[in-house]
Amino acid sequence: MSRIPLRPTPAGDELTRLEKPPDWVEVFGGLTGPLEVEIGCGAGGFALEHCRRNPNVRLVAFEWRKKYAREVAHRGEKHGLKNLKVIEGDARTMVPKLFAPGSLAILHLQFPDPWWKRVHQKRAILHGDFPQFLLTLLEEAGRFDFRTDVQDVGERGIKALEAAGFHNPLGPLVFHPYDPEDAPSTRERRYLVSGAPVYRARLVKP
Ligand SMILES: C[S@@+](CC[C@H](N)C(=O)[O-])C[C@H]1O[C@@H](n2cnc3c(N)ncnc32)[C@H](O)[C@@H]1O
Repeated sequence: MSRIPLRPTPAGDELTRLEKPPDWVEVFGGLTGPLEVEIGCGAGGFALEHCRRNPNVRLVAFEWRKKYAREVAHRGEKHGLKNLKVIEGDARTMVPKLFAPGSLAILHLQFPDPWWKRVHQKRAILHGDFPQFLLTLLEEAGRFDFRTDVQDVGERGIKALEAAGFHNPLGPLVFHPYDPEDAPSTRERRYLVSGAPVYRARLVKP
């Protein structure tokens, strides 16, 4: 990602202190398409490309690293992506405040930090009762899109999601094959070139 001067204020600043969900149609300037969330967008490869390919979708991307969040927000605006909103902050605390139950069409979690040390594992997104909570945010037949390069994270993640009540149309604990229709994340692009394995799951709310 090219170096651009960081903006002085957090990305999505107007939303970060809200205690209840905003009117997302208003936030997106009148757009009404399916509402999707990405947790941990990093350098934004997925968010920017997904929004470019799917102008009908509204994507809210969370990223707690200031540099990434502000650069992705800047690039989204530069490319005229009216359907992308980047929010700088901790998705674990903000997502519960900003989205009503049944309001999301898709949740995206790609290449989450593996948190190798046991003491840090509580920081993982697919830890504790958070997967169960995320299920409540999805509309009926809403989807959870999960990708990782770490087999153990993939296996634990898919297990946690299925235990939380997500349905795996391919059968229990079965990973999803690569789908060229999916926009690749920044990290995924590397693996598509090198051929290193990626573990993907595409689960649905029953
Ligand atoms: C390994 S990177 C992957 C980035 C991107 N999804 C990709 O595939 O290229 C994980 C990203 O998640 C972000 N992250 C981790 N936990 C987060 C949280 N609770 N809230 C917001 N961002 C988080 C990290 O800062 C990091 O940018």
